[in-house]
Amino acid sequence: MDYNHELEELDKKYFLHPTSSIEQQQKFGPTFIFKTGKGIYLEDIKGNLLIDGMSSLWNVNIGHGRNELGEVAKQQMSKLAYSSCFANFSHEPAIRLANKLAKLAPGDLTATFFTSGGSEANDTAYKLARHYWLLKGKPERKKIISRSKSYHGVALGATSATGLKPFRDFTTSLAPDFLHVDSLKSEALKELIEREGPDTIAAFIAEPVQGAGGVHIANENYFKEIRKICNEHEILFITDEVITGFGRTGSWFGINHYGVVPDVMCFAKGVTSGYAQLGGVMISEDIFHTFKQQSTGTFLHGYTYSGHPMACAVALKNIELIEKENLVENAKMMGILLIKELQALKINNKIVKQVRGLGLMGAIEFENNCRNLLSPLIVENSQKKGLICRSVTFDGQDTVVIAPPLIINSEEIKKITSILHETIIEIQG
Ligand SMILES: Cc1ncc(COP(=O)(O)O)c(C=O)c1O
Repeated sequence: MDYNHELEELDKKYFLHPTSSIEQQQKFGPTFIFKTGKGIYLEDIKGNLLIDGMSSLWNVNIGHGRNELGEVAKQQMSKLAYSSCFANFSHEPAIRLANKLAKLAPGDLTATFFTSGGSEANDTAYKLARHYWLLKGKPERKKIISRSKSYHGVALGATSATGLKPFRDFTTSLAPDFLHVDSLKSEALKELIEREGPDTIAAFIAEPVQGAGGVHIANENYFKEIRKICNEHEILFITDEVITGFGRTGSWFGINHYGVVPDVMCFAKGVTSGYAQLGGVMISEDIFHTFKQQSTGTFLHGYTYSGHPMACAVALKNIELIEKENLVENAKMMGILLIKELQALKINNKIVKQVRGLGLMGAIEFENNCRNLLSPLIVENSQKKGLICRSVTFDGQDTVVIAPPLIINSEEIKKITSILHETIIEIQG
């Protein structure tokens, strides 16, 4: 059996893939087996070179093959690969990273709790919000409200908060006290709070730009209204910046576009550009103050890898590179170009219903005329032409989303849009 075939067969036999079609795997084997990455490109074992138009899972912000991060990881692992942060044990990478994040984060979000990824960050945020109310003597404030079309991960709390129903339907029993509300109308939140009783609600969580749900952007005033509603009812406002953090939208954090500050902020992905597994939750001074003043005994929340030294060292270097290479500004400028180029597709194609985006999160939604869905076909054909993008068909949508690495240049943006253009023209027939 040759090398490629052997890997394909082993994959089919032993690898249960995350968020994948098992039927497709068993029929066709793995879609790609990647072996190297450089800049915006990935190469598979058959020699196919593809533009990573999704930054893999919206996370490889500084692009592939950055030796600087490998070097830092190697140095940290040689020096101190692991030590615990429980029982107030500490180490320099976690301390320095927490300090750096306090400087970058909006408003008074100053203290960080580290996790291994976004789902753990979300579950942590819900637990910390409830713990805050417990310490405040209001244990009945326990409901968490999230939005329709939202994605918050696959841990039990994160799944329960996720607005995309198929993710919740994957399992039979969810966590209690999670409620969902329309994603773009602040009025709907107000009504739900009044219906449920403000005194029963711990927090409201939102992605500043919804990612997995199809790149949905709230109107300019939405988050200001949300902040006001949360203030009026003393409800904690959590932002899930797992995708939108670290420059993705052309600002350090997505919520910065809307001029409001959350009480709690979840992050992951772009903090290390995917080079190490790291996430976290930042809390406001008020919440940290309450924890400091009211906590007795042990703060009983912690993961083995909370503040992993190698992951924190990689994050520090990644942030340094984002700053040094002006990647936040680049994401903004390239995002403007991406939307302009995608708009041109809309003008030339009647099947395109809407083009939307912010920074390097872009979407083309197709007219859904109850014919076959176009976006899965576009994704498949784009892959054949050397572009990875993603189809979103939740909630009756037919959308292609793109989120390339922040290091992308204008020539590469045009390469992406010309592949999409060709693919759409071919599909139109
Ligand atoms: C907004 C958002 N929150 C949370 C998550 C979950 O993160 P993870 O897959 O690292 O657990 C994701 C993952 O895509 C996400 O997009």
